[in-house]
Amino acid sequence: MYLTNEEERILKGEEGYAKQKAMEIVTALGDIYGADRLIPISSAQIAGVSYTSLGDEGIEWLESLRDCHVAVPATLNPASIDLENWRDMGVSSEYACKQLRIINAYRQLGVKPICSCTPYLVGVIPRFGEHIVWSESSAVCYANSVLGARTNREGGPSALASAIVGKTPNYGYHLDENRKATVLINVNVKLETLSDYSTLGYLVGETIGSGVPYFRGLKPLRSEELKALGAGLGTTGSIALYHAEEVTPEYAKVLTGQVERLNFTDRDLREVCDEHFKPVNGSVELVAIGCPHMSLVELEEAAKVLKNRRVRKDRKLWLFTSIAVKRLAERCNLLDIIRRAGGEVYTDCCMALAPLKSLGVKNIAVDSAKAAFYTRLLTRVDVFFGNLKNCIDSITEV
Ligand code: F3S
Repeated sequence: MYLTNEEERILKGEEGYAKQKAMEIVTALGDIYGADRLIPISSAQIAGVSYTSLGDEGIEWLESLRDCHVAVPATLNPASIDLENWRDMGVSSEYACKQLRIINAYRQLGVKPICSCTPYLVGVIPRFGEHIVWSESSAVCYANSVLGARTNREGGPSALASAIVGKTPNYGYHLDENRKATVLINVNVKLETLSDYSTLGYLVGETIGSGVPYFRGLKPLRSEELKALGAGLGTTGSIALYHAEEVTPEYAKVLTGQVERLNFTDRDLREVCDEHFKPVNGSVELVAIGCPHMSLVELEEAAKVLKNRRVRKDRKLWLFTSIAVKRLAERCNLLDIIRRAGGEVYTDCCMALAPLKSLGVKNIAVDSAKAAFYTRLLTRVDVFFGNLKNCIDSITEV
């Protein structure tokens, strides 16, 4: 891979140890994937924030990088606790202390402590064609597909390394030829709720595994639906980009030549639910909504469902969003409505990354196929699946 004089100097360690290590990661990736050169990026979104996944070694490694600074605006994926209200979640101060050390280490590197999987809802909005390095799979899908920005599905270390050097290898979804559709998906499915969109994504991801799906017959009206679809796609497949006819910005140029065709119907959607998810029932203890983090519109919908209802005494309702959206929800009086009904809005974290077992949670209901998959995998609690309304109905009374 061609390197400029400046990149060579960094690689030799002339700009410090941390930058050298970052350049080693970035160039190793470029060599593995056959990139011709490094290209500048405009932002980074870094996963690998939760103490449960990083552990003490991760904290030490992050703290060892303190002599350098990110070269581009960078934000974080969710952590495992609400950074301000962790006590209300029941988290121990010992655990919180470790998690806060991680956030502080990132902050020392110049990374903005916006811990959210929806940075595009809080002002981090790359333009069409802009090269970025994001790691959260649902955010990657949204940025590539809905915004037309260009990113591969990065791991936490490679996203941090790219943020430090301000560049990424030119391969994968940064190149036009890899953004073409590889399979045409005919959607003959009635999609009513965000859960339906996330299940469709989950089903398509599971069926095709990789590649670039092109959806025909999908007419989503709202960015929330596109967000839910992308989150599902990234869960069961290695998909990082999709196109939707007359919806996403690149659709008109990407269907070239013969591609495989698949049809999906209501029956397929029902079957994937029956096979993978347990429907919500009266034994649900905790309902957790917000995978990916809720938009203001979604919080408004939740507040509407909660109107004239009350969370039962021995049940809990947690809604997850970013700090910025929570502040707006407060200003719109949505927080009052949600809290009066017995729910709580947490930020900076999510159901799949929170230490649910040590908080005594035995089972949880979610409205997102991604949350169902990862919460079961990462927290080992029992998981139920439904839509926003029937999840909330299962733990509330009039
Ligand atoms: Fe976000 Fe957590 Fe879901 S990081 S996409 S809410 S699993």
